[in-house]
Amino acid sequence: MNQLDFNGRDAIVTGGAQGIGLAIAQRLIQSGARVHVWDRDPALLHQSVHALGSNATAVVVDVTDVHSIAMAVQNQLEHVGKVDVLINNAGIAGVNSPTVDYPIDAWEQVLRVNLTGPFLCCRAVAPHMVKAGYGRIVNIASVAGKEGNPNAVAYSASKAGVIALTKSLGKELAQSGVCVNCVTPAAAKTAIFDQMSTQHIEYMLSKIPMNRFVKVEEIAAMVCWLASAECSFSTGGVFDISGGRATY
Ligand SMILES: NC(=O)c1ccc[n+]([C@@H]2O[C@H](COP(=O)([O-])OP(=O)(O)OC[C@H]3O[C@@H](n4cnc5c(N)ncnc54)[C@H](O)[C@@H]3O)[C@@H](O)[C@H]2O)c1
Repeated sequence: MNQLDFNGRDAIVTGGAQGIGLAIAQRLIQSGARVHVWDRDPALLHQSVHALGSNATAVVVDVTDVHSIAMAVQNQLEHVGKVDVLINNAGIAGVNSPTVDYPIDAWEQVLRVNLTGPFLCCRAVAPHMVKAGYGRIVNIASVAGKEGNPNAVAYSASKAGVIALTKSLGKELAQSGVCVNCVTPAAAKTAIFDQMSTQHIEYMLSKIPMNRFVKVEEIAAMVCWLASAECSFSTGGVFDISGGRATY
């Protein structure tokens, strides 16, 4: 494993109680960071943060709730004075259904968590990074946002939105010392699979030329490099980690 230098850095990882977010939190801590793990599931969050050790802090936050985000940021600024890194990872899959039958409330919920959530977190954190003259934001999009997965319209559209959010904010902050990038992973076997149909999981695997699921540690490696100071001339970028699936 390559050694990254996050000594003295404070990172927020949303949805970090399990899966990809937890792997990112682990890698950041191994690299010297203090990680403020945000999640809406208190029981799982406290269990995971306990396992992560003394450089992890549990913060119960729902990324769809602007007040919950504001309180968490305010609290972090009061206690540690800064946010160096924001990883917008919290997300849900939503149901699998043909677009014409897709339940409207499910559409709205997926868009709210996956797209409005990162927007609200960027909105709350970016001004403090700009003021400090340094920051790294990494958004977890998906190859679904580039390719569009059938029977997953809300998820695919939300992740396409995350890609566009990344491009817009990256350009806006390009001269501020804050870099904003996103990654577009193919499917990783995490608890999010419980929300999907077996046919959908099989479909996703069938589209990956490497013929396997990506490991959460592989995603964490790319995300953590993008979150490091060494990533200094990439912003508004979309980084592929799809085992060869992405066609652009
Ligand atoms: N696993 C995959 O196949 C895959 C592929 C590409 C992208 N992604 C994306 O990676 C991210 C993480 O996925 P994962 O597979 O680790 O999922 P997961 O279900 O294992 O973990 C997601 C975490 O986010 C938390 N969360 C959900 N809604 C939240 C909210 N409103 N506020 C705060 N926390 C919330 C959950 O409690 C959970 O701990 C998601 O954005 C997902 O869309 C996943």
